[in-house]
Amino acid sequence: AQQALPNTMGLSSHGQFFARFESISQLLELLRWAQRATLPVRVLGAGSNVLLPEYVPGLIVQNGMGQHRAVRRDGNFCWVVVDGGCPWHQWVLDSIQYGHGVENLALIPGTVGAAPIQNIGAYGVELADVLEWVEGIQLSTGQLTRWSIAQCRFAYRDSVFKRELRGDVIITRVCFRLARRFDPDVSYGPLAQWAQTHEVTPVGLIEQVCEVRRSKLPDPQVLANAGSFFKNPLVAADKAEQLQRLHPNMPKYPAGDAVKLAAGWLIETVGWKGKRLGPVGMHDQQALVLVNHGAATLADVQALVRQVQKDVLARFDVLLEPEPQLFAEA
Ligand code: EPU
Repeated sequence: AQQALPNTMGLSSHGQFFARFESISQLLELLRWAQRATLPVRVLGAGSNVLLPEYVPGLIVQNGMGQHRAVRRDGNFCWVVVDGGCPWHQWVLDSIQYGHGVENLALIPGTVGAAPIQNIGAYGVELADVLEWVEGIQLSTGQLTRWSIAQCRFAYRDSVFKRELRGDVIITRVCFRLARRFDPDVSYGPLAQWAQTHEVTPVGLIEQVCEVRRSKLPDPQVLANAGSFFKNPLVAADKAEQLQRLHPNMPKYPAGDAVKLAAGWLIETVGWKGKRLGPVGMHDQQALVLVNHGAATLADVQALVRQVQKDVLARFDVLLEPEPQLFAEA
């Protein structure tokens, strides 16, 4: 029945029909029911990277399965299949009983099933580094299908599930390939500093990542938000050089032939850090995070997005692209 849809951005949103499935056969039954009623079907994870309109017609399903188990081991790796409904951070905590590779991704909000959609990443690691395959029901064919890592077409905060297969897949399970030897990537600034004076253990690394995140990123339970709101933009090398001449302290990172700029820095530089527009604003500790101070609607969020995009475009000639997905209205 009609129900409030959970989302960390704190937008008030209701779905026409909402159901949580506890097995694949339950999911298939729900899909047959929706087909008979000619209702569109959409899947919602934890609602941490979506922008919800006030009303979502159709059937919204949520994965209620959250188990994991090792399916194969060799001398170097352990392969673990994890249900899509498992909360991501819970999986990070549990993962170290099997192997290593996801410690840097601690405390990312959301579910395991949502992680492949935007190829989540943080502190030098992204999902694509540890993923083996993705399994899900393709709505257009009704078939349970498996996508190899190559077929997922992962890129920075991007995958086939955001593009060609957008809205067409309910991810049910994800297989991880974890390293049996702990060989952590602590190259990212705040982790590197810490690693110089501490013994790096899997639990210690997870705790340190949590600490760095807590120091910058607002807890959605306290201040509603959807993490980094804009992607870090890629620009041509000559464009980056030109900007660097004007702004010698501008952070930038090599990205193949291109250069990745820090969206947080661009937003702070045009003056939006800690500033509000109506009930929404850009966070005062990390300008990249759009926060909801009150009872914001999708229109409030979109108004701020347009203003920030406009100001950054005018000053740097760079268009910022939002990271959260708009939950389709029709
Ligand atoms: N910066 C500013 N002002 C700000 C924010 C950042 O000047 O208000 C500067 C920082 O000083 C730094 C640079 O911008 O020099 C980059 O900032 P930071 O290291 O905090 O990382 P980020 O680029 O803002 C990205 C991801 C995060 C991820 C961190 C750590 C994106 C869009 N964001 O943020 O991912 O946790 O790196 O790896 O790629 C998310 O996607 O939701 C997310 C939190």
